[in-house]
Amino acid sequence: MAAKWTPDSWRGHKGIQMPAYRDAQALAAVEAQLGQFPPLVFAGEARNLKAELAKVASGDAFLLQGGDCAESFAEFHPDNIRDTFRVLLQMAVVLTFASKLPVVKVGRMAGQFAKPRSADTEVIGGVELPSYRGDNVNDIAFTKEGREPDPQRMVQAYNQSAATLNLVRAFSTGGYASLDRVHGWMLDFMGRSPWAAKFEQMADQIGQALDFMRACGLSAETVPQLGGTSFYTSHESLLLPFEQALTRRDSLTGDWYDTSAHMLWIGDRTRFDGSAHVEYLRGIGNPIGLKCGPSLEPDALLRLLDTLNPAREAGRITLITRYGHDKIEAGLPKLVRAVMREGHPVVWSCDPMHGNVVKAANGYKTRPFDRILAEVRGFFAVHRAEGSFGGGIHAEMTGQNVTECTGGAIAITDEGLADRYHTHCDPRLNAAQSLELAFLLAEMLNEELKERRAAA
Ligand code: PEP
Ligand code: CO
Repeated sequence: MAAKWTPDSWRGHKGIQMPAYRDAQALAAVEAQLGQFPPLVFAGEARNLKAELAKVASGDAFLLQGGDCAESFAEFHPDNIRDTFRVLLQMAVVLTFASKLPVVKVGRMAGQFAKPRSADTEVIGGVELPSYRGDNVNDIAFTKEGREPDPQRMVQAYNQSAATLNLVRAFSTGGYASLDRVHGWMLDFMGRSPWAAKFEQMADQIGQALDFMRACGLSAETVPQLGGTSFYTSHESLLLPFEQALTRRDSLTGDWYDTSAHMLWIGDRTRFDGSAHVEYLRGIGNPIGLKCGPSLEPDALLRLLDTLNPAREAGRITLITRYGHDKIEAGLPKLVRAVMREGHPVVWSCDPMHGNVVKAANGYKTRPFDRILAEVRGFFAVHRAEGSFGGGIHAEMTGQNVTECTGGAIAITDEGLADRYHTHCDPRLNAAQSLELAFLLAEMLNEELKERRAAA
């Protein structure tokens, strides 16, 4: 029998990757303040997402989750939010058009501020300082003051999340995401990508379909689904004092929810047995993501599933695999077999980013587009061979025209990385690379669906 869960029971467990705040009183004051702030999302919305994810688990929808590796205070600007949102819309429409499956859209947005790091400290020029842990913890500037964890940053992260979520909600339902506007989602600088022309063609076809439907009396006025979309938020549930402060009891069901986002995930570094992060997440009602890297053994995964989803509720758990292009085909099958054998209903999603980081000769951390694609290919190959449904993609991407991942149709070279390398943490796909990934992914998804339909 599991011990009693409370929003703060994680404090009795082993918590790693969290800052040591110097001033306990200042921390407690911020926690109390956040505890009085309005929830960012409602429990009912988290339940709606869970129901949509249950459709993904059964092979009747596809999950698209993407956004920044780390949001930042400095890059907080409506254009950045809009551009990432619209590339996600483009990707979703490409996937829906090709596969004829509904696409569940989840942003790494409006709260993705805390980062796990491989080392506690960073040394530059003989000076050793605490590592940067995301803008809600400390500053990326390499100074003693900057790297000191400051609890006040959680208040700023809350405010930025609220404003971001407000804009995204407005875009989702206020007309911006209307299918009528699909041509308008194209970004100017994508003109050089061959995939931009392909998108325009597809947009023309969608336009014709909409014209036809309008003539039949079906339009955004009569069918609300055509005039907007549902869009959900997610982030890594890492900074537990923040998550606890936003944990509220749902007045309808009496259950606890983390109201900082619709979906929360546990990182690959914090999913061990006895972890404070696992303890926290087992008690909240939201859908949960679990990062699965090469070190996760099937037994440990099954224990995690029993802890996090004892009722085996479909849509509750999304397993986000992140092996690396050269490890996925050897490593993933044993997890898939264990999960299928035990009958756990999960969403399988592919994170082709975190296992494919390389250092370019000039020192930039990058991810070659070919390797990202190779991992996605390996992901679908495993699920086809095992008879499971590869149902999602988890990408670090931005609507900006950055140069952080090499390759793609507008080939970014190692030398080109220096041009617009802006990420606060890991390298992201730019808008053109994201669109290209969506088209190539759509082809692979279609192959998967063809086989599944033939076998059914
Ligand atoms: C992330 O998603 O930003 C991340 C740190 O991933 P992982 O836990 O899989 O390394
Ligand atoms: Co990352």
